[in-house]
Amino acid sequence: MDKKWWQKEVIYQIYPKSFYDSNNDGIGDIRGITEKLDYLETLGITMVWICPIYQSPMADNGYDISDYYQLNPEFGQMADLEELIEKAKGKGIKIVLDLVINHTSDEHPWFKDLLANPASSKYRDFYVLKPGKEGKPPTNWRSVFGGSVWEPLQDTGEYYFHSFGVKQPDLNWENSEVREELYKMINYWLEKGIAGFRVDAITFIKKDQTFEDLPADGVDGLVKCTKKTRNQPGIETFLHELNERTFSKYDCVTIGEAPGVPYDQFGDYVGENGYFSMIFDFKYADLDVASGSEWFKRVDWDVLDLKKLLFTSQKELQKNGWGANFLENHDQNRSISKYIKEEENRHYYSGTMLGAMFFNLRGTPFIYQGQELGMTNDKRESIDEFDDISSIDQYYRSINEGFSEEEALHFINLRSRDNSRTPFHWNAGENGGFSNVKPWLGMNENYKTINVQQQELEPHSILKFYKEMIKVRQTSECLIYGVIEPLMESHPTIIAYKRRYNKEEAVCYFNFSNESQAIELENGSYRVLLTNYKVKDQSIDAASFMLRPYQALILQKKEESCHEQI
Ligand code: NOJ
Repeated sequence: MDKKWWQKEVIYQIYPKSFYDSNNDGIGDIRGITEKLDYLETLGITMVWICPIYQSPMADNGYDISDYYQLNPEFGQMADLEELIEKAKGKGIKIVLDLVINHTSDEHPWFKDLLANPASSKYRDFYVLKPGKEGKPPTNWRSVFGGSVWEPLQDTGEYYFHSFGVKQPDLNWENSEVREELYKMINYWLEKGIAGFRVDAITFIKKDQTFEDLPADGVDGLVKCTKKTRNQPGIETFLHELNERTFSKYDCVTIGEAPGVPYDQFGDYVGENGYFSMIFDFKYADLDVASGSEWFKRVDWDVLDLKKLLFTSQKELQKNGWGANFLENHDQNRSISKYIKEEENRHYYSGTMLGAMFFNLRGTPFIYQGQELGMTNDKRESIDEFDDISSIDQYYRSINEGFSEEEALHFINLRSRDNSRTPFHWNAGENGGFSNVKPWLGMNENYKTINVQQQELEPHSILKFYKEMIKVRQTSECLIYGVIEPLMESHPTIIAYKRRYNKEEAVCYFNFSNESQAIELENGSYRVLLTNYKVKDQSIDAASFMLRPYQALILQKKEESCHEQI
């Protein structure tokens, strides 16, 4: 694959509601991002992806858009966004927006018109409508957030389809008028000077047109809809057209949220002429989630499982194109709580080791706000403390399936999306310096010890390590563009890989255990590029090395040794 400008970016994901509240209404906003550009610049960020900021009733925190051309006043005005784009540009930071085109809000004028005139609305064909079957919904498919994918359209006997929440009706991509409206809107935003889009739930746009029932997989009598609604045959025509009519006309970056794509189709998605610049592969991120009727169970896993999933993903992405590597996002729980199982082992060493392991894989690295501080999951004591619609739904579904309230709370505490959505920790002051007033979502109380101000003062902190790590990558073509080769594939607690680019070589080792572990090095002499421990010598000539507990070690093979190998 030829070099592309977006391969060398370091992308920071902002959940705007929780980043920084500049006007003290308890909700983060666009000006809040602008005010914190210096922070992002010193961290070394070159691109920011902002989760949806468009007009929305916020049933799913902005993933339910009621006007694609207006911003949600809670976040600010168009002039604020223009100012942000301009000021960010001045600091070498590009802005990427979220693009939600699988569904709108039920408060979008198109859907409102349909509700007002169910039989005659000119927007009838903008959504997916079907008559019920003997007083029941058209199919037995379960939506991603739980409950049927079908909701009655008033009392017409018809139903409308929603892959996600009830307030997020899916658009009918089979209708070319819908597609034209979306392309117009996408081009409008690209003209505004944004660098590109992260494209939400894009594998859902094509539905199996037979709309037939499947065997139920839960006591609710429903079955996961994804078998009939995700990456269905025919989607390629839509994606090809989308790309041709919009993205391909601009030198923009597109990051597809593409769950459900089998590896043998990755080439279509991210190849040289793929639909997107890169995609998120969720197969490794879901390693602790059970599927089907056992969805609520937390699956036990070990480092070998993680390694296998991760390397398979890396090899497939390498074979086909380019990937978007992420450790956290607004839909996942916090990585240090997820990947480091014992609480006593969650600290500077494990947080930095984990960060470096993901960050130096082949692909464009994403950092989710707060990951650079080692922010953790937050335990909630009652269902009333949750905001995330999918957690609330899962809570009631567990209870319907016969679990106690305590058990249901336990399930959702483990995986709730609220874990990563708590307001950002700027300092140890009231509300973590996020806002002067009570934030929209309860703070994680550990902001008093885990926060930016504190970590800037400490001699060694996760934040300082991230700054160093970003600098190291940005000055190493090998770590940006190099091919990846797994090392030590059968070791139970070390993840290791080699990156190779022309004559350069870097070897990367990550110890996932709280015990020292020996590694064997290939013949040669090495320079330490990055580690989370103090090392006496910046050069290593020995054939073996003792990795300390949770050590991350990235070594550059000195060039004369690389020559020897060739
Ligand atoms: C994926 C987004 O990341 C998630 O937050 C959202 O709820 C769904 N898509 C629906 O838009």
